[in-house]
Amino acid sequence: MKFPELRARRLRRNGLIRDMVRETVLSPDDFIYPLFLIDGENVKNPIPSMAGTFQYSVDRIEEEIYELVELGIKAVILFGIPEHKDELGTEAYADEGVIQRGVRKIRELTDRLYIITDVCMCEYTSHGHCGLVEDGDVHNDKTLELLAREALSHARAGADMVAPSDMMDGRIGRIRRALDEKGFSHIPIMSYAAKYASAFYGPFRDAAQSPPQFGDRKSYQMDPANRREAMKEVMLDVEENADIVMVKPAMPYLDIISDVKQNTLLPVAAYNVSGEYAMVNAAAKMGWIDRENAMMEMLTCIKRAGADLILTYFAKDAAKLLRG
Ligand code: PBG
Repeated sequence: MKFPELRARRLRRNGLIRDMVRETVLSPDDFIYPLFLIDGENVKNPIPSMAGTFQYSVDRIEEEIYELVELGIKAVILFGIPEHKDELGTEAYADEGVIQRGVRKIRELTDRLYIITDVCMCEYTSHGHCGLVEDGDVHNDKTLELLAREALSHARAGADMVAPSDMMDGRIGRIRRALDEKGFSHIPIMSYAAKYASAFYGPFRDAAQSPPQFGDRKSYQMDPANRREAMKEVMLDVEENADIVMVKPAMPYLDIISDVKQNTLLPVAAYNVSGEYAMVNAAAKMGWIDRENAMMEMLTCIKRAGADLILTYFAKDAAKLLRG
């Protein structure tokens, strides 16, 4: 098989044949849309660094929820912004916490949306770290107890799935045990298994009002330079019975997504994070990039690399385009 008998361009001659031989096709079923819920009433705050996204108070989410359902998006992941933060992040596992109320409200509004909750302490602690701080660092094992309480409290409120994003050791096993003991053995865990200490989370930390008040997250999130270590993290979570494993961020980590896809049997999720979203928007605003094309290319390539599910702020815009 070689040139001139073989010509690869034959299968690219027109749109019809290109459609027929396309290997990766996006669908709204692939998307999980992140939603920010804030304490208070009648709030719909635009998030400046993430155009088109808002912080909603629970009483204002109706419109957004119906739009998602109408667009055929199947799932949301919820992030909470509590009014009150403290050392122990108590609002994270409060029965009347913003997520707990939000989950109940969405349940009331529709049964056509799968509700995933982000399980982490950083939005709820006064110091902004993802767990309980002792001697200037996050204490792993004490944090596990708080995460288990938080996950359980989300499940009790009616969440369909919990997604721990804290990167503590042993959290999947600890949360699994807590859920099973209390009658929630049917609730799956989507683990942020390979989560890197990334500069691309910048806009999210504005949106969730969760930047660390001292230091950084490098003692728990992974070093971007490490590829093999991602498989170590993923294997640990698989052993602890995670149901879905996630790689985060997505775009600069396609090699990791591909490794995870090839070396596990679980569905793979990828988080197309806030910084990736903000960069496309910013460049498009300057007239330097075509927003729609860049968005679709980015999402398609994340799926091509091996992602079965993509958490993305582009979900609504991409679903609109796919619908035609
Ligand atoms: C909480 C959490 C973060 C993101 C998702 N869950 C922030 C962080 O770890 O600092 C980032 C999402 C994004 O940037 O879109 N731990």
